[in-house]
Amino acid sequence: MYRPIPSTMQSANPLGYDRLVSILDLIQPLVEPLRTARRVVVLTGAGVSAESGIPTFRDAMTGLWAKYDPSQLATPQAFKQDPATVTRWYDERRRRCAACTPNAAHLALVKIQQAIESHNKDSISDDDEPGRFTLLTQNVDRLHQRAGSRNVIELHGSLHVWRCTATDQEFEPGPEPFSQFPRPSPYDPVAILRPGVVWFGEQLPEAALAAAHEAIEACDLFLSIGTSAVVQPAASFAHIAARSGAVTAEINREPTAISRWVNWSVIAKAGDALPALADEAFGA
Ligand code: OAD
Repeated sequence: MYRPIPSTMQSANPLGYDRLVSILDLIQPLVEPLRTARRVVVLTGAGVSAESGIPTFRDAMTGLWAKYDPSQLATPQAFKQDPATVTRWYDERRRRCAACTPNAAHLALVKIQQAIESHNKDSISDDDEPGRFTLLTQNVDRLHQRAGSRNVIELHGSLHVWRCTATDQEFEPGPEPFSQFPRPSPYDPVAILRPGVVWFGEQLPEAALAAAHEAIEACDLFLSIGTSAVVQPAASFAHIAARSGAVTAEINREPTAISRWVNWSVIAKAGDALPALADEAFGA
């Protein structure tokens, strides 16, 4: 049984009011916490890019790890053993991501960042705390940046950055497919390029992790979106935020490892919930 939408919220929604009411009901508990928050941290995972056509990792049948064995492709040992196959797989993923476009979830996060950062932006009073928004992503597709998100902290690196195995210098390949596997490094006569992503068994970039912890320990609202919350250290971020006194919430298409103890767990698609949340909190 749905409550009728107050006339102020009715819109010519081609999908009919029932769907809109269900989304609005689901995100309602997050509206006031987001509208009043001054230090917001958002952690995103593959579920945020799913509606752009980029496969997640652990969704049954469609996830990457349902089709490929991560130990054969996403580890330093795999690259050492067969650099050509690993390079070919990451070059293909890099180009698939470049062909995808940011979806409504990415664009809603840009709107939320702009709204939070506009809080008390011009105030000269010390009592008026300026809004602070930190976007932490486990995604390596750069769709957040292409949507317009700023200062994105890439916890797992990026498919669009490759590194010289001899000098660690970074190289951003053009859109064309690689022609050599593995790809020779432009910085060293005998070295090759490796994908600039974090592999299993590797440490996260130190600066990214330090910036993430600083923001999480200071935040008043922590939102986990589109992640199964099973890969450390990101899986512990919501715990750390809660311990620091933040309101914690998740938006995910199915329950996750953190659903049972965050303050709010919204089971919905990110591309539905985030635009509705951004409009409700900051106006359409
Ligand atoms: P997963 O595939 O583990 O989880 C993605 C989550 O998004 C799942 O819980 C899905 O149910 C959910 N989901 C799918 N579509 C969605 C949608 N439209 N809206 C909302 N949620 C949706 O991916 P991650 O949690 O990002 O690490 O995985 C974390 C890390 O594990 C990745 O960064 C990668 C992987 O191995 C490395 O490669 C180092």
